[in-house]
Amino acid sequence: MFRFYFFTVILALITLWSCHEEAPPPLSNTTPYEIVYPFVMEKYLPPIYIPSDNPMTEEGVALGRKLFYEEKLSGTGTISCNTCHLPASSYTNNQQFPTGHNGMQETRNTLVLVNLGWMSRNLWDGRAAGLYDHGFMPVNNPIELHDTWTNVMERLNADEEYVTLFKTAFGAETIDSTLVVKALNQFERTMISGNAPFDKHQAGEPTGWSEADFSAALRGFDIFMEETKGDCFHCHGDITNPLWTDNLFHNTGLDINPPDPGLGRITNNPNDIGKFKTPTLRNLVFTGPYMHDGRFGTLEEVVEFYSTGLQASPTIDPLMKRVSEGGVNLTTEEKADLVMFLKSLSDSSYTTNPAFLDPG
Ligand code: HEC
Ligand code: HEC
Repeated sequence: MFRFYFFTVILALITLWSCHEEAPPPLSNTTPYEIVYPFVMEKYLPPIYIPSDNPMTEEGVALGRKLFYEEKLSGTGTISCNTCHLPASSYTNNQQFPTGHNGMQETRNTLVLVNLGWMSRNLWDGRAAGLYDHGFMPVNNPIELHDTWTNVMERLNADEEYVTLFKTAFGAETIDSTLVVKALNQFERTMISGNAPFDKHQAGEPTGWSEADFSAALRGFDIFMEETKGDCFHCHGDITNPLWTDNLFHNTGLDINPPDPGLGRITNNPNDIGKFKTPTLRNLVFTGPYMHDGRFGTLEEVVEFYSTGLQASPTIDPLMKRVSEGGVNLTTEEKADLVMFLKSLSDSSYTTNPAFLDPG
């Protein structure tokens, strides 16, 4: 026991020391990147978290974007982040379990890449403590880029274009894994989405929808907020949380015996079994299938699940209050309106935003 605490204390100290390292001064030949927030973000959210040792620059963001589409990051030279995170699908890929290296399949559905700068834990089970921590994972992941950082560094350092780009963005003579991750992170932080029809309505702009459709979406929003109806907002947020997620972990009652322990495998706590990160409700029109295992192909199926499909289990969230009745039991019309509301959070300007597309 004592030994365990001793090592924990040493580890904590090492972590603290490394956090207190002096941040390198910003380079004089770089241009600071200015984030322009959509109306709803500007109104309700604090600015995104930017670590002091990785200030956002035009050069860093452009490099991160190039790396996002770079197949040289993979062992076979055929896979990039974009293999699974496609622009038109709001940076998911619409497969239940995406295919990566050598036809192998992931065991979870691709997470949408959107508004990542406001997230402190990443992945469905939260095993990445933020974007920097996550950034090292895809290269070593046998199903994703399937390589070692040593190999990737060798390839990038042998590439004159990359050597120059890293030198300009970070003032570095040699490329190392931390700089690759920092560049990717800068790009990821720019991936902000907040211009869906529902956002435009709040900004007092035309929604682009017919009046009948948007009225249905507004009725759906009331159902979403009403505790005796959909009762969705506890976990997915309300107008004052335009991320449309609490970024916390819940068991929503998908299974009696969750086959994937989710957060439970990370914390080793039986109370966390079957808990997964609440996904954002943004851009759902582009991101199906849904849930950590992509079990539902349509939003109608998702809403039907919350209405009549809940399964009780020891770790089901207390907020799933009506599990004994199977769910929130909405009428056909209420379900249709709720789906319209969900669709009104989809921002097509994001999926076509030229700033995020393949620069090559
Ligand atoms: C073979 C498919 C595949 C490739 C390649 C891939 N990803 Fe992913 N990505 C996924 C899947 C699947 C998840 C969810 C996995 C989980 O939660 O266990 C995910 C999750 C993420 C997340 C977490 C999002 C969140 O909300 O927490 C980020 C960020 C991300 N990927 C970025 C990248 C980057 C950057 C690259 C390239 C360096 C990359 N991915 C390569 C499939 C892929
Ligand atoms: C107790 C918290 C909680 C409540 C209440 C809740 N959700 Fe969820 N929602 C989650 C979590 C957690 C997930 C991911 C579950 C998983 O994959 O295991 C999820 C997933 C979803 C998804 C799939 C998104 C995707 O990208 O895969 C949709 C859509 C959704 N919820 C809509 C709703 C609606 C509509 C309501 C109300 C009827 C609702 N949720 C109520 C926590 C909640």
